[in-house]
Amino acid sequence: MTKTITLGQFIIEKQSDFPYAKGELSRLLRDIGIAAKIVNREVNKAGLVDILGDNGTTNVQGEGQKKLDVYADEQFISALRSGGECCVVASEEHDECIFINSRISQHAKYIVCIDPLDGSSNIDVNVSVGTIFSIYRRIANEGPVKPEEILQKGIHQVAAGYVVYGSSTMLVYTTGKGVNGFTLDPSIGEFCLSHPNMQIPRDGTIYSINEGNYIKFPQGVKDYIKYCQVEDSAGNRPYTSRYIGSMVADVHRNLIKGGVFLYPTTSSHPRGKLRLMYECNPLAFIVEQAGGKATDGHRRILDIQPEELHQRTPVFMGSTEMVEKVERFVQLPAEEAFAAGY
Ligand code: AHG
Ligand code: MN
Ligand code: MN
Repeated sequence: MTKTITLGQFIIEKQSDFPYAKGELSRLLRDIGIAAKIVNREVNKAGLVDILGDNGTTNVQGEGQKKLDVYADEQFISALRSGGECCVVASEEHDECIFINSRISQHAKYIVCIDPLDGSSNIDVNVSVGTIFSIYRRIANEGPVKPEEILQKGIHQVAAGYVVYGSSTMLVYTTGKGVNGFTLDPSIGEFCLSHPNMQIPRDGTIYSINEGNYIKFPQGVKDYIKYCQVEDSAGNRPYTSRYIGSMVADVHRNLIKGGVFLYPTTSSHPRGKLRLMYECNPLAFIVEQAGGKATDGHRRILDIQPEELHQRTPVFMGSTEMVEKVERFVQLPAEEAFAAGY
């Protein structure tokens, strides 16, 4: 019989991998894992209780909030507050950062950026949603946290992960030494190691994009979509189109099966729609750690210097070969790209 390794056991076993192995990051990851289980419980019974529908309030991006967004946000912040290892939380649901100034957090060294509930428009229809998180270490050792400590480039993440509340619930994370996935076993209430050392296929045949916005895409992206649809049996085209509308679930599927996820600039979102700090950076870190690639068409996502917390960026991430192909389309003038067979 194979031995079950729980998330808690795995984190402790891997503690010596961390650059500052005092157990603080391990405790932080454990706290996030516990909050994820609580959120999972609520997501699972979303159809049963009177928790569905709009909360009536609007978040900082002017988008309608669902009740579970608020619930998930509260649970993660509360877990981080009581865990004592986090000094600042930046959440999609809050205009400003939340500074944790409790007695137990006075020496806390970690900053967490989080999208507490990703894909919230899917809650009412029983389709996968998720949580995405990113962890940075403070630059200074003490004193008030400065803005530049929060607005760090993605390459400085010390850990990142996501939870996907799907047909089963999984937590996937990296600390920069590969990617490991854990599936929640509801019978024992533990995340168990199910996907050790996840590797994204180098190439794939799935493209994920909201094609309804086709008319609003840059020409290079339109050309790439047409390239995906051209019949070429040697190149396995036409490709398959899959778009769930929860970035976390789309990226998770592509991570396992191979594929590319695209959210380009559009005429209505000229800087892109997805958020750099708590959507693109953490997933880019994971995708890269699994052997894939993540860019905005020109730059590596992890190299972008954030100017503000809720900054948006265009993003193309997934299997290396596919992302590089998208980049060639985006960077070349249209006719040249097509003529070159890109
Ligand atoms: P959130 O629910 O946190 O606001 O994120 C939704 C995001 C992302 O998960 C998804 O891929 C994308 O928005 C879907 O946007 P479109 O409806 O524009 O395709
Ligand atoms: Mn989101
Ligand atoms: Mn969200």
